[in-house]
Formats: sequence, structure tokens, C-alpha cells
Amino acid sequence: MAEMTRISEILRRQPLGEAVEAQGWLRTRRDSGSLTFLELNDGSCLASLQILAEEGLANYASEVKKLSTGCSLRVRGRLVASPAKGQPVEVRADSIEVLGWADPETYPLQKKRHSFEFLRSIAHLRPRTNALGAVARIRSTLSFAIHRFFREQGFILVQTPIITTSDCEGAGEMFTVTALNPAHLRQDDPFADDFFGRRAGLTVSGQLQAEIFALSHGQVYTFGPTFRAENSNTSRHLAEFWMLEPEMAFCNLRGDMEMAEAMIKALIASVLAECGEDLALFDQHVAKGLIDRLTQVRDCPFVHLTYTEAVAELQRARREFAFPVQWGADLQAEHERYLCEEVAQAPVIVTNYPEAIKPFYMRLDDDGRTVAAMDILVAGIGELVGGSQREERYEVLAGRMAAAGLDLEQYGWYLDLRRFGSVPHAGFGLGFDRLVQFVTGMQNIRDVIPFPRTPGSAPC
Ligand code: 4AD
Ligand code: MG
Repeated sequence: MAEMTRISEILRRQPLGEAVEAQGWLRTRRDSGSLTFLELNDGSCLASLQILAEEGLANYASEVKKLSTGCSLRVRGRLVASPAKGQPVEVRADSIEVLGWADPETYPLQKKRHSFEFLRSIAHLRPRTNALGAVARIRSTLSFAIHRFFREQGFILVQTPIITTSDCEGAGEMFTVTALNPAHLRQDDPFADDFFGRRAGLTVSGQLQAEIFALSHGQVYTFGPTFRAENSNTSRHLAEFWMLEPEMAFCNLRGDMEMAEAMIKALIASVLAECGEDLALFDQHVAKGLIDRLTQVRDCPFVHLTYTEAVAELQRARREFAFPVQWGADLQAEHERYLCEEVAQAPVIVTNYPEAIKPFYMRLDDDGRTVAAMDILVAGIGELVGGSQREERYEVLAGRMAAAGLDLEQYGWYLDLRRFGSVPHAGFGLGFDRLVQFVTGMQNIRDVIPFPRTPGSAPC
């Protein structure tokens, strides 16, 4: 007599006639004469397990008939074919143990659909809903698929630091980490007496440290939390987000783009293969046509445009953009979305951006005006990936760093990588939360990360 605890496993195997045990949270209770039907969900899958409770149960009148949404239960019984439509099997309960009550007067989740905005106000309970429950499973599947993909490609996982003294993107968006009471900051040199003896912050990217290991191990990746104090209150920005950053030695921009495209396709293939039930929920209720769109992204080549070609496309567009388009200006989300939604109808890889709008580490092109950068843009989101070939020539890099106002002494270690055994290398960063958004079709990035941090908001 096999006892199983995960509802996903019970529904997958359907061991008719066997004794089963399930534990979870009640979604609904429906009484029908001397019978009660319970829908039990344990988060292992979207579907709930139907439990049939009959009045012969010892606690039928005293407890079962009083159950309400959110109560936690342990159910033991026998799995039988369900005579009614809606579910193939059900559990005929031998015992129902109430582990925890949930007062229906105050429990905020009810059977009706709640807005995502309302659910954001109850971050501690929203994982118990269908949509947020499905997001969490897809996030976990994608995360595991990332590690599997890179392991199969022979990459080494490197844990780059969260506390760092380097501002990789040079955008001045680093949160400061201090052990000092603000009142004790010195006027002349505020962090001299601080924990690290200099200003430290939360990483905006693990790239610079990943480069160190690419130049010893060839192909590496880092995948972790990333922090940006940018005041962007949009549906695509978080102050704390997860970024995946592969870094490859002996690799140029072409190899970088090929790896990024192959990886995105493999990740989408994993979700299509493993999360069909959850994707169907999003396809039906959140983003119609989602599964077809993902299948297309998995199967069709991405479209390539240089920045200069992209600007020409945008200038040809019979469309009023809020931000004007001209060579030299950065592309805005509206431009990025237009390129993949209207022009290419596929993900677009834009390359060779103007040197002036990209960070110091990107390799200068021969024309001296552009760099070997690539951004991957996708429908509904805009920029999903940002990457480049890195500047491996000492003199050129030192010049670019000085021009960017960086202290060359402080970044001596980064320059050393170009002094000792420098090689062409390239890498990219994929915004993991944006990937989850893309795969689920969820509108707001705050709903695809368990605990969103945005300007003015970090409730728990
Ligand atoms: O384009 P970004 O700034 O690139 C880097 O940080 C490079 N150092 C990466 C590398 O080459 N190793 O960021 C990479 C990606 C973006 O394309 C976007 O998807 C995501 O990270 N991203 C954000 N996601 C959510 N909230 C934010 N505030 C984000 N900022 C960037
Ligand atoms: Mg970028």
C-alpha cells in the first residue's frame, strides 16, 4: 500500500484502488445532501485533488461541514475513478484531519478571482492562488533548466559577490552597504572608517568578476540577485532582480549571440515540455495565444539588425513615439517592442550600438563609433538580454575607462586581465524575472518574483 503525499504524483500515476494520503490547503467546499466535496491543493501542480467526504466520518458534522477556503488538511483514503465530469479520480476519505483553521471572515482569499494588484498587498498568501502558484513553479523550472543547460554545455558555475566595490555598469545605481550609523559618516572621506575602509555596495552585475573566471576556466556563468537603485517605476524594473550572466573566453560577438539564442530556445523548450498545465492557465486567462508564441520563439530564428538599421526602421515607422528616434540616442521600450512586435514578429538581436551609450567594457568596433554590443528584444517586454564582446586590448580599455571617469588604480585587477594572457571574450546578462514575464505573459514584473522590491516598497 503506497502512501503518497504530493497531489501532482497522485494525479499523474492515478493508482486506482490504492490507499493515498494528501496534505494541503482547501480551495473549496461543496455540500450535496449527505456528501461533501473538497478541493485540496498542495502547490505541487495547478490541479486540485477532489476529496469525497461522507457523513459516516467521525468529525463530519463537527468539523468537515465547517471547513472553509484556506484550511489546511491531512486526508487519508482510497483513490477511485470519479463518476462525475471535471476530474478523472477522487479520494474517498477515510479520515480528514484539520491541521489549521482559516477564519472565513478574515481570510483574504476567496474562490472568486482577485486582481493582481490586490494580491500584491498580501505577498504572504498570494502563492496559494492559481496564477501566482503557477508562476512559482515555472520560475523554479526555468531556474533548474538554466543550470542544466550550462552544465550540459560544460560551463562552470561561479558565485560572484553580492557585496562589491566595483560599479560594473558605471551608471551610479549602486546601493551603498555600510556598517556605520549615518550620523558618524566623515565629511571628508565618508567611508574611510567603514567596514571595508572604502565605499562598498550591492552588486549591479556579476560580470566583472565572472570575467576573472572566464580567463581561468573558459566558460563560466553566474546566476544570482542583482540590485539597482534606479528610480524606474515600470512594469519591467525591480530594485532587486535576478540576473543570469554567462561569460566565455575565446568567444566573439557572433558566438555570444549564438549562445544566447540557443539558451533562450532551450529554456522555452523546457517550460513547454514540463509546465504544460501551468502554461495553459496563462494562455487561457492572462495572455491569449501564449503557447503558440512560445513555440514560435523556440522554433524560428531570431532576427538580426544593427543599431543603425534599427534606427532606420524606426524612422520609417508610421507611428508617433513618445521618445524621438535619432542615431546616438538609446532605444526606449516602445522602440524595442515595435521592432519585435511590428517589424520582425520575432525576437530581435540589435548589435553595434553607439559607443557613447554603452558601458566602458564593450569592445570598440573598427569604425571607432560603435561597440560590439548586442541586446535581445522580445515582444511585450523589450530588452531581455544585454551583452557584448569585451574590450580585451589593454590600451583601448584603459582609454575607455579613463574617459568614463573610472579610477584606473582601483580597477587595476580588471586591467590586469588584459595585461596577463588576455583573450577575446564575450558574455551577456539575461534578466531572469523578465524571462519569467515573457514565458507566462504576466504584465507586471512585480507578479513574477515572490517578493518584489521597487521604489518605496519592501514590505517584508
Ligand atoms: O543590460 P544590463 O544592464 O547588462 C549588464 O548588467 C551586463 N553587465 C550583463 C553582462 O553582459 N554580463 O542588464 C542585463 C539584463 C537586461 O537586459 C534586463 O533584462 C535585466 O538585466 N535588467 C533588469 N531586470 C529587472 N529590473 C531591472 N531594474 C533590470 N535592469 C536590468
Ligand atoms: Mg542593457
